[in-house]
Amino acid sequence: MAAPSILKCVLCGREYEPSAERYVCDTCGLDGTLDVLYDICDTKKKITRDSLSSNRDTSMWRYREIMPVLRDENIPNLTVGWTPLYDNKLLASKYGVKKLYVKDDGRNPTASLKDRASAVGVAKALDFGEKIIACASTGNAASSLSGFSAVSGLESYIFVPEKAPAAKVTQLLVYGANVILVKGDYAEAFDLATSAIKKFGWYNRNCAINPYLVEGKKTCAMEIAEQLNWKVPDRVFISVGDGCCIGGLYKGFADLFELGFIDRIPKITGVQAEGASPIFNAVSTGSERVIFGPADTIADSISVGAPRNWAKALRAIRKTGGTAVTVTDAEILSSIPELARSSGVFGEPAGVTGFAGFRKMTIAGKISSDETIAVVVTGNGLKDITSAKKSAEQAISCTPDIEEFSRLIASR
Ligand SMILES: Cc1ncc(COP(=O)(O)O)c(C=O)c1O
Ligand SMILES: [Zn+2]
Repeated sequence: MAAPSILKCVLCGREYEPSAERYVCDTCGLDGTLDVLYDICDTKKKITRDSLSSNRDTSMWRYREIMPVLRDENIPNLTVGWTPLYDNKLLASKYGVKKLYVKDDGRNPTASLKDRASAVGVAKALDFGEKIIACASTGNAASSLSGFSAVSGLESYIFVPEKAPAAKVTQLLVYGANVILVKGDYAEAFDLATSAIKKFGWYNRNCAINPYLVEGKKTCAMEIAEQLNWKVPDRVFISVGDGCCIGGLYKGFADLFELGFIDRIPKITGVQAEGASPIFNAVSTGSERVIFGPADTIADSISVGAPRNWAKALRAIRKTGGTAVTVTDAEILSSIPELARSSGVFGEPAGVTGFAGFRKMTIAGKISSDETIAVVVTGNGLKDITSAKKSAEQAISCTPDIEEFSRLIASR
């Protein structure tokens, strides 16, 4: 198991020794999120493409030699990662691209990509001897943290906006978390969680604060590369809220590139809802920093006006030659049944937003026909059935009478 060699600020490059108390850069404050960097020469001896091909661990922990967890016994006993990557010929041909791959991360144990981060967060809490872990979340990081805390014997405190979908809040309660429904939006839940964590000395699982969490999310990129036999796609589309998932994708590809497992990094494209698009605004205006703004979208998981990991999000897009795009709520909603009916993957609104962005860019002629694309579906559709129902037709209502049923069928 690898020990991280150093933590390095993404903004100013200042370096820090890892410790339980070290979250962000002293010079840059909350904006200065930290990268976890490894001794690559040493790592190359422990993990190779060959060692991976004979590795029978079909979870994200197959990459443990380039992950920050110190002790194997601290890895939660809940299988996460190695989610399917579907080669979708139907959608590739419909939208005129060479290949379209759909990565279904809603297949994780609590049904979102966030499980990759929570698994690492809980393992790090145990590495550091912590007993209580806490976070603020739009919902999925919360349900995920509560599940992983439950199997690892940690107590969890979770702050969610009171409007979080019922399914996500129910998950939290079932797993036994201490749930705080904050009368406010995600930004307010985040601020309350930050103050409470400081005051009570809990371990902070907030992905934009704790440098180790993105190390879990990076395994999504590593899986895409390995599942494609190390021939990475030209572009990867993913939805963006706080910016941790997209930051994780970049880190995963960047680590693989440094290890020499892949020969290039895909263009990473971040997709935001029109009503919550600060990262898109910064990319389209060429701004160095992100200006926080309003957040109003049906895609609750990305209803984020103040993206805390903006620096990693901008780096992911700019360093890879990718871009950012926005989609309307209507485009998000119509993507739910389209993706489900053509790939079998049922995503929640933020889960299908990456696909909605891909669709919009191809329709606008911004993707060429020889490109290979991957879209990451970040969360399962059962997380938010109220939105999903708005995107599909009504059921046929009928008494248990074959004559009435026949009339109904005939009149359609
Ligand atoms: C399903 C889903 N998709 C996308 C995101 C966006 O991830 P991030 O906030 O890391 O940008 C989230 C975050 O909660 C999510 O739950
Ligand atoms: Zn800094």
